[in-house]
Amino acid sequence: MSIGVDQADRSPEPRSFQPVIALAVLEEDRPHRVEVWDEAARAMTGIVLVRHRGQVHAMGSRCSHMGGPLDEGWVQNGGLVCPWHGSRFCLATGQVLDGPSTSPQPGYDVRVREGQVEVRRRLEPGDEALTPEKISAAQDAVEARVAGHVPAKARKADEVLFEHHQILRRLFETVEAMHPDEPERRDMMRLLAAELEIHEHVEDEIFYPAVRPVSEDVPAAHAAHQQLADMLALALRLGPSTPAFEEQLRALHQAVDHHASSEEQSMFKEAQRLGDARLRQLGAEIEAMLDHERESRARQAYRALKIRLLEGG
Ligand code: FES
Ligand SMILES: [Fe+2]
Ligand SMILES: [Fe+2]
Repeated sequence: MSIGVDQADRSPEPRSFQPVIALAVLEEDRPHRVEVWDEAARAMTGIVLVRHRGQVHAMGSRCSHMGGPLDEGWVQNGGLVCPWHGSRFCLATGQVLDGPSTSPQPGYDVRVREGQVEVRRRLEPGDEALTPEKISAAQDAVEARVAGHVPAKARKADEVLFEHHQILRRLFETVEAMHPDEPERRDMMRLLAAELEIHEHVEDEIFYPAVRPVSEDVPAAHAAHQQLADMLALALRLGPSTPAFEEQLRALHQAVDHHASSEEQSMFKEAQRLGDARLRQLGAEIEAMLDHERESRARQAYRALKIRLLEGG
């Protein structure tokens, strides 16, 4: 079984039903991709719809395993099969029926009104804690940083990411320096796991797509993230007081350092071709996403749950 970072889009939006397509367009067992506006992320989110035995089902279109396009998959025994590595997700619940994915697909409620299919995001654990006030405060923060203008003091994307690399390096040093039996070591390891996941998420979502036109390193970097996620999963499973953990932690530290250094020496340099203004705009977007990832109760709850699952309990 392969375990990795969950690659699905997990925004809690949209909260209310949005019309997405005419029912008549959907053919039986033919996955169909639509997009909805995600108010919290200020971006479109992909959803795959499947009409099956008189019902319409909806789930996130990006596979939780490695981001494969589920709308290009097929229906088999009540599940939707990902075309990349064959994970099969229950049409009704989004739960994994067959691996390699270990995370369910984000789910959507579906209703049909006047011939239109409407969807809204089904709540996940922790989403209730996100009140409308919190969402609008987060939106204001994102707007202030991203929309309209980019503050002159905004840092460039490569500077923001370099600083985060340094945070990751320090976290590794801290965990390595702690005694194996120190109870706080597990907490520190969880913090490291969360920051590593957040780092990969912002690069996968914002930085890599933006630098793709000027850097050939992007596909290899995505693959490296998957490899790091697998190594992290193994370290979490071992538990911080075992000798095998020390070895795995060292290997992960080396791999992260190697990947981060190669970004700094190659991709970040090539990114300069995007120009100063664009890099500052990306820097503001990355900082906003880092804040959101760290502060959102839903995202915290989701990461905590995943880390517990990887730890095996
Ligand atoms: S990307 Fe979907 S199964 Fe691997
Ligand atoms: Fe990276
Ligand atoms: Fe990085």
